Amino acid sequence: MPSILVVDDDPPQREIVGVILEGEGYRVETAGGGRAALKAYRRDSFDVVLTDLKMPDLAGDALLDALIREDPAACVIMMTAHGTIASAVEAMKKGAFDYLTKPIDRDALLMTVRRAADRVSLVRENRRLKEELEDRFRIENLVGSSGRMDEVRQMIRRLAPTPSTVLITGESGTGKEIVARAVHFASPRRGGPFRVINCAAIPETLLESELFGYERGAFTGAAAAHPGLFEAAQGGTVLLDEIGEMPLPMQAKILRVLQEKEVRRVGGNTPLTVDVRILAATNRDLERDMRTGRFRADLYYRLCGLVIPLPPLRERSTDVPELAEHFLARHNRENPDRRILGITPAAMERLVQFPWPGNVRQLQSAIERAVVLSSGDWIDIKDLPAEIRERPISIGQVDFEIPDEGFSFEGFEREIIFKALRKSDGVVARAARLLGMSYRTLQYRLEKFAIKKEP
Ligand SMILES: Nc1ncnc2c1ncn2[C@@H]1O[C@H](COP(=O)(O)OP(=O)(O)OP(=O)(O)O)[C@@H](O)[C@H]1O
Ligand SMILES: [Mg+2]
Repeated sequence: MPSILVVDDDPPQREIVGVILEGEGYRVETAGGGRAALKAYRRDSFDVVLTDLKMPDLAGDALLDALIREDPAACVIMMTAHGTIASAVEAMKKGAFDYLTKPIDRDALLMTVRRAADRVSLVRENRRLKEELEDRFRIENLVGSSGRMDEVRQMIRRLAPTPSTVLITGESGTGKEIVARAVHFASPRRGGPFRVINCAAIPETLLESELFGYERGAFTGAAAAHPGLFEAAQGGTVLLDEIGEMPLPMQAKILRVLQEKEVRRVGGNTPLTVDVRILAATNRDLERDMRTGRFRADLYYRLCGLVIPLPPLRERSTDVPELAEHFLARHNRENPDRRILGITPAAMERLVQFPWPGNVRQLQSAIERAVVLSSGDWIDIKDLPAEIRERPISIGQVDFEIPDEGFSFEGFEREIIFKALRKSDGVVARAARLLGMSYRTLQYRLEKFAIKKEP
């Protein structure tokens, strides 16, 4: 039951209010003045404070100020005689929840207190959900105990507390977004908003108004002014996802935000100061894009100072069992009636050996699929997607023969490439050398075999 502090210098008055509330099951404590109330609140923060306005030692409005200063979520109801309604209204402007007029009417009292208690529990619930979210994106929740992931965690810890822009690079599905969230929640901005904009998913014509907002009448259909993403993220962090896909004119505007910390709404004249930290992510080779003129050099140099490079999964295959178990455990938590006991050693071996062109995301969807397909308590080889399940085609140096039933050239090509990658510990440049092809050709083929992610 909610706890309530009743403050009044008139003993019978606080007695009556206290008794009514106790009769409804509230836990009530009383105080004879503002100072005593403040002391009681510091000792045991109450859900709701009901206070008289006129009191000799510390008046109700001063008590309200002090409470809100110490606890912005404090819920205070003023009790006032007719003559002082104006000051009660004044108190509401300063953040009081509501006011009651004396003599206190029982029904009005109970109704107002109930509304206040409801709001308090809503605020609490919100805070709990927010903390849960923060928890989920804590650095410690990044799965993988390989040295490479340790390095990533160390970089996040080092860079998170700074206000600097950080570029997160890595192939598709390596965890760029989850790392960006970890940076935000490990930073002093964790209480502020975290917003993501996918520069590749938004048409060029809409990108500017999404990011910067627009004034009323800025274009047909702009019936009301609209704040952009940077404004909405005030006090927090913005992730510019797939920044490599950003059109050149927008790149110039982003550079200005980075330099001036100002945005200008579309159709607006006055610049607005924004306090946001900017993170950027890309799976493109921005340096190459810069050289070919696809990416502005000034923006590139601004971004490339602090980089968190995320290694592809094939370069840290020791993380595969942990990740697979992690996704399985998540499935079990969400589907308690269809629990899977584990992954058989044979299936796990295939998972570890597979070079995962789609990285962690591909592993995640492979596990999710296997869970649905498996008929027993364990995930076995037969439950894995075909490309992972298939045994590598064995080819001798000289005596390779095409089987009577024919074979898939693509599958063959893939196996050769994966074999080369395994032999070179996942380092693409080395695998390319083994296969006698250029880095770019191999990269292109890898992209071809990557599972395309959902939009
Ligand atoms: N180290 C990790 N621990 C736990 N889950 C991870 C880890 N890395 C990635 N994931 C999960 O894998 C999926 C893909 O990660 P994320 O979306 O962050 O990748 P991305 O690099 O942004 O991919 P893309 O380039 O395709 O946008 C997400 O569901 C994410 O939660
Ligand atoms: Mg992403």
